[in-house]
Amino acid sequence: MKKNNVSPGDYVLLLGKGKTWLVRAMEGYDFHTHLGKVRFSDILGKPFGSPIYSEKGEKLFALRPTIEDFVMKCERQTQIVYPKDLGMISLEADIRSGSSVLEAGSGSGAMTTYLASLVAPKGHVYTYELREEFKRMAERNVMKAGLEGVVTFKLQDASKGFEEKNIDACVIDVGDPWVLVPQCWKALRPSGRFVGVTPTMNQAERLSEVLRASGFSRVKCIEIMLRNIEAREGKTRPSMMMVGHTAYLIFATKVLETSQSASSDLAEAGEDL
Ligand SMILES: C[S@@+](CC[C@H](N)C(=O)[O-])C[C@H]1O[C@@H](n2cnc3c(N)ncnc32)[C@H](O)[C@@H]1O
Repeated sequence: MKKNNVSPGDYVLLLGKGKTWLVRAMEGYDFHTHLGKVRFSDILGKPFGSPIYSEKGEKLFALRPTIEDFVMKCERQTQIVYPKDLGMISLEADIRSGSSVLEAGSGSGAMTTYLASLVAPKGHVYTYELREEFKRMAERNVMKAGLEGVVTFKLQDASKGFEEKNIDACVIDVGDPWVLVPQCWKALRPSGRFVGVTPTMNQAERLSEVLRASGFSRVKCIEIMLRNIEAREGKTRPSMMMVGHTAYLIFATKVLETSQSASSDLAEAGEDL
């Protein structure tokens, strides 16, 4: 059960005039915004959701951050996977409390943070990263969300193979995901799910073909477009701004045969139309 009041060291999402800041409430410290200085002593001990006033008299709210807030406000030096894609990844890969998940590469750890929040408290995420600075950044971001207990960070080239076996889902976000397909097949439990995230259609196409030829069925590639609606009385309409492109998502299921019959499975072609 989450506690209701803000304690020293808690992360708080400050909301003021449509802007948000993810801050750590520390005794004796202030936070400076264009709305004026906010004293953490005004927040500590109050329930999340409370209004507070800056030194300039501007009203803000001290909200409990959601996992989406931790993802979107993470420290980042790589492209990250965005919430619209994360939601569908977890549904398609059936990732839930207790699942075991393999991830490559960790990057900034945005997706790691989300995956960890799903599998906690009894599941686990094993995440592989080539570059030490990214591994450290991913660790910091996961720790910020309080989820370090359910993640193992590995500074290892995933193409050299995974040490884990009988994994529920592999989630792959590297430039050449097709290279990791045989390793994923070995690590997954029968009927385990594969997820690939690629920025270009060329990568999505190549990955899909390699999956079909490598003991995976139910291969599916999608792109999610999210349109925000500005809902206001009498003038509700889509937002003028839209994120044009993030990634293509490729899903597949491990089957226990590597012959062509897995890829030419009729169900695969028809079930999602
Ligand atoms: C686009 S970033 C991943 C971003 C991450 N999904 C997130 O949401 O923060 C891709 C990462 O994969 C790492 N990478 C590339 N090839 C790899 C490999 N063979 N093994 C492990 N990591 C790899 C890169 O160093 C980079 O940090």
